Amino acid sequence: MDVFRVTGNGPLKGTIEVGGAKNAALPILAASLLTEETVRLENVPDLSDIRFMVEIMRHVGARVESPEPGVWEVTAAQLTHVAPYELVRKMRASVCLLGPLVGRLRRAEVSIPGGCVIGPRPIDLHLKGLAKLNCKVSIDSGYVHVDASDICGGPIFLGGRSGSTVTGTANIAMAAVLAPGTTRIECAACEPEVVDLCNLLVKMGAHIEGIGSPELTIHGVEKLHGCKHSVIADRIEAGTFIAAAAITRGDVEVKGIAPNLLGAFLDKLEEAGLPMEKKTDSIRVLPYDHSLRPVDVITLPHPGFPTDLQAQLCALMTQTEGLSIITERIYPNRFMHVPELQRMGADIAIEGPSAIIKGASALSGAPVMASDLRASAALILAAMAAQGETWIQRIYHLDRGYERFENKLASLGARIDRLSDKEMPKELRQE
Ligand code: EPU
Repeated sequence: MDVFRVTGNGPLKGTIEVGGAKNAALPILAASLLTEETVRLENVPDLSDIRFMVEIMRHVGARVESPEPGVWEVTAAQLTHVAPYELVRKMRASVCLLGPLVGRLRRAEVSIPGGCVIGPRPIDLHLKGLAKLNCKVSIDSGYVHVDASDICGGPIFLGGRSGSTVTGTANIAMAAVLAPGTTRIECAACEPEVVDLCNLLVKMGAHIEGIGSPELTIHGVEKLHGCKHSVIADRIEAGTFIAAAAITRGDVEVKGIAPNLLGAFLDKLEEAGLPMEKKTDSIRVLPYDHSLRPVDVITLPHPGFPTDLQAQLCALMTQTEGLSIITERIYPNRFMHVPELQRMGADIAIEGPSAIIKGASALSGAPVMASDLRASAALILAAMAAQGETWIQRIYHLDRGYERFENKLASLGARIDRLSDKEMPKELRQE
């Protein structure tokens, strides 16, 4: 297994280009199963999660090929309806196959994805939505079985305890585009990735109104067709690089991202006093010599502050004077990065769903363990601001969602090496 060795090396400097969004590309790949014609997808990031999705799509019978880097062509002439546990367990997002299989084949048998380190990740809202589309839904031996022979549109309230659901909205929209009648999804997720999926579906011939709003109206059509689509930019990757620039007091231009995709995040950084220059398609973080101010943040569904940037903000706030409060409303236990940041010298207390960060800690390099995708990014950020060497194990989590992360950081001047765990000093290894 690979590990990272990161050595604090002062301010980052330069320009980076943001790649395609993982969380848009995954449901969009799945959506291409809704037609027997070829769908060509561009700006698809090269990530292990994308490769898992391709593997499972091939398993259900699609031809999925990559004629050039970043491009995938999907032709789903014939499909089978079973997505087995041994594939689904590798990636929770494979639950996105449920909607397309139901829409296209009128039946689906998809293994229920297991739990996840960031907390319980139920799919009850997906199932409730399908039942409201007049599907017969049952669970047997770890699989969801859907009989959609009488599928038809109808009104669906898709909100749960934490508000809207991103992949739930994607699944119900994908099932509804080919269902007779009109489906009205209330409390639909408004995330830019859901918007991108809906835009793809419209290009394929779907009739969807209210895209980007919490109420989606879908008039079912008989058939969809092939199209070409370029996946939107990854706002979470962009936000991670902005936080990396900020924590090192660097001068970095993050290109290929519209600032309005990061509204709540940039607003908090402005409140903290981070100097930035925003253009239509880029955000530049400017160097500063004052201390940033602490923030009080609650993660919420879009357009609120994204949970996927919470860990990175925690890392940044360890370096500001004063007390920050970061509250998780989407995944209340998503604080696995905190004990590792504490090992590096951060002063953070967890009180219920909140992290209380007493800032301006002098961080020092330590051996730490990555627990999930965004926690991995937070540890790398902290390591760049720390004195000495930090060794980060289990970086396969990072490879799921950041394309060439260490190369991009190194191009900005970071000292980060990917090594085999055999090259890590034995006394520092935690396993
Ligand atoms: N929820 C339910 N029932 C459901 C579905 C969700 O109670 O049937 C709850 C969840 O437990 C959570 C909240 O609703 O508290 C929101 O979950 P959501 O369904 O929106 O999450 P998701 O679709 O499973 C996507 C992203 C996550 C991101 C969340 C929230 C993908 C593939 N994943 O997950 O991304 O954190 O939305 O924005 O799109 C990541 O990239 O690191 C990541 C975890």
